[in-house]
Parts: sequence; structure tokens; C-alpha cells
Amino acid sequence: MKQKDPHRQLEKLKNKVLGCTECPLHQERNLAVFGEGPWESRIMVIGEGPGANEDKLGRPFVGRAGKLLDRMLEKQDLSREKNVFIANIVKCRPPQNRVPHKKEVETCFPYLREQIRLINPEIILLLGATAMRSYWGSLDEKVSDIRGKWHREAGRLVMPTFHPAAVFRNRNYQEYIEQDLNTIAGKYRELRR
Ligand code: URA
Repeated sequence: MKQKDPHRQLEKLKNKVLGCTECPLHQERNLAVFGEGPWESRIMVIGEGPGANEDKLGRPFVGRAGKLLDRMLEKQDLSREKNVFIANIVKCRPPQNRVPHKKEVETCFPYLREQIRLINPEIILLLGATAMRSYWGSLDEKVSDIRGKWHREAGRLVMPTFHPAAVFRNRNYQEYIEQDLNTIAGKYRELRR
């Protein structure tokens, strides 16, 4: 059930994130990236962390991988304008786009946990190994082994898939991501009936 008015709390949380200095990543960031999309979204997409474009604009997934993600979402009639909230595991860009350190993830994770609590999505899509491992704590599985499968937890359905940036290394990944988005979109429509 949606909470009555989480908007004020989300606004407060956003301001906190934008001014956060809790870990060393803030030292080199230009802008922290809170995430974006309707605050009543039933679907939440979680990536790894901001890259150079995101850091410049303060918005998630606005570079090449983001444009691909938008196009793939759009094919399923999903978008950050309409029904998907897009966030990241860490809110500040790791230097040279390195994978965030464990300590950085641990420090930042409470923000994501709070975003999830307030947005209260029914479906969560984890993009790539860092998002998957950070979300579930350490996990030995590979994305390729458990992508496309639902994990039920606390009233939510969580699914990992490949990160869209992986498509630039291997075009075949796009088909898998699109299959998984299609499953997500099907479930979304089913839940709205
Ligand atoms: N990759 C991510 O994981 N997140 C972004 O916001 C952009 C690229």
C-alpha cells in the first residue's frame, strides 16, 4: 500500500543526498545524483553509480548507456517520465568510473534503502553485478546465472539483469535485457489490473 505523503520525506532525503559528505566520493564529485522519476513509480531501476555525464548534470543514466536504457524502456511503454524511478547504488561518481568500494557502498546504501521505503515500488530491477551484489550484500552468483528470475522479498519482486553498458562490449546482451524488461512490463501490467 502506498504511504500517504512520502513526497515531503523524499524531498528532504534528496536535499540530504545532494549535500552529503559522508564518504570520500563527495570530494571529487560535481553533483550528487539522487535519481529521478515519478515518486509513485511502481518500478524502480537501480544502477551502479553516476558517470561523467551524470555527475555533470546531476541526473542518472544520461550518457550512452542511459540513452540505450531509455530506448529499451520505451519499447515496453515504460519511462522515467511516466512510471519508472531510476536510482543508483552510490550517489556520487567514483573517480574514473571505478567500481565503488565496499565502504562507499555501505555508507551510501541507507539512502537507497530509504528511497525504496518511500517510493515503495512493487518491482525492482538491478542493473549489473555491482547493483546486484550491493543490493543483496555479497553474493556469489553471476548476473548471467540469475538474470530474468524473480526474487520475492518483503512484498516486492526483484530481478537482476545486465547493465546496459555491457551491450557496448557485447551486442548479444541487449536481447537479454530486452527480454527481462519485457517480463517486467508484463508483471507491471498484471499488477495494475
Ligand atoms: N551507469 C550507472 O550505473 N548509473 C548511471 O547513472 C549511469 C551509468
